[in-house]
Amino acid sequence: MSVHHPIFARLYPMMSQAMERGGMAERRQALLADLAGEVIEVGPGNGLNFAHYPPTVSRVLAVEPEPRLRQHAHDAAGRAAVPVEVVDGLAERLPAEDGTADAVIVSLVLCSVRDQQTALREIHRVLKPDGQLRFLEHVRADTPGLARVQRVLDATLWPRLAGGCHTGRDTAAAIERSGLTIERLDRFLFPDTRTPSSFHILGTAVRRS
Ligand SMILES: C[S@@+](CC[C@H](N)C(=O)[O-])C[C@H]1O[C@@H](n2cnc3c(N)ncnc32)[C@H](O)[C@@H]1O
Repeated sequence: MSVHHPIFARLYPMMSQAMERGGMAERRQALLADLAGEVIEVGPGNGLNFAHYPPTVSRVLAVEPEPRLRQHAHDAAGRAAVPVEVVDGLAERLPAEDGTADAVIVSLVLCSVRDQQTALREIHRVLKPDGQLRFLEHVRADTPGLARVQRVLDATLWPRLAGGCHTGRDTAAAIERSGLTIERLDRFLFPDTRTPSSFHILGTAVRRS
């Protein structure tokens, strides 16, 4: 199993820079604030989170399966203020031992993994007791009408256009189902209009010891 989205991988660095200017950089800052210790970032893409890791983070293992994005992540790792190692790998089979990570980071990734439940099981496995999953994801809309539009998009064009992304996943519910406990959950629109991909969550879930 591998991830290869050559067109999306060419477009995402440009799209994501526009999102940064539109306010996503502040959300990344909030996602990563006050982290410490050993971190695993799943699906870093072109590595836009790397600049936001605080100096209390001792090492980031960044697991990126898409070859072109992984090269961008390598470049971003070279500019980061904390040690970042970028490796090939999948959320569904993380290259890390059980109970070794103080935190796992996912941003705009759980919409795209092929098997969300397996990915979350893996995240649970690699977290230390009391370790944190920090997440920033776009999710299912809050009205039945828009959720229906998301279902149609997800069954047709959207995943093919957007690197395997799905607009309508109920990711907060999936995180709770994985055995992690959500301790903080903010919901917001990004951009600030009601579109199929603008419903976002940002939060922290903990692996209870
Ligand atoms: C929309 S991009 C987000 C990139 C980055 N996390 C960010 O915040 O800008 C989705 C990322 O998820 C990665 N991805 C897709 N399927 C994956 C999987 N099964 N395991 C790990 N990463 C995956 C893609 O290669 C891509 O880097």
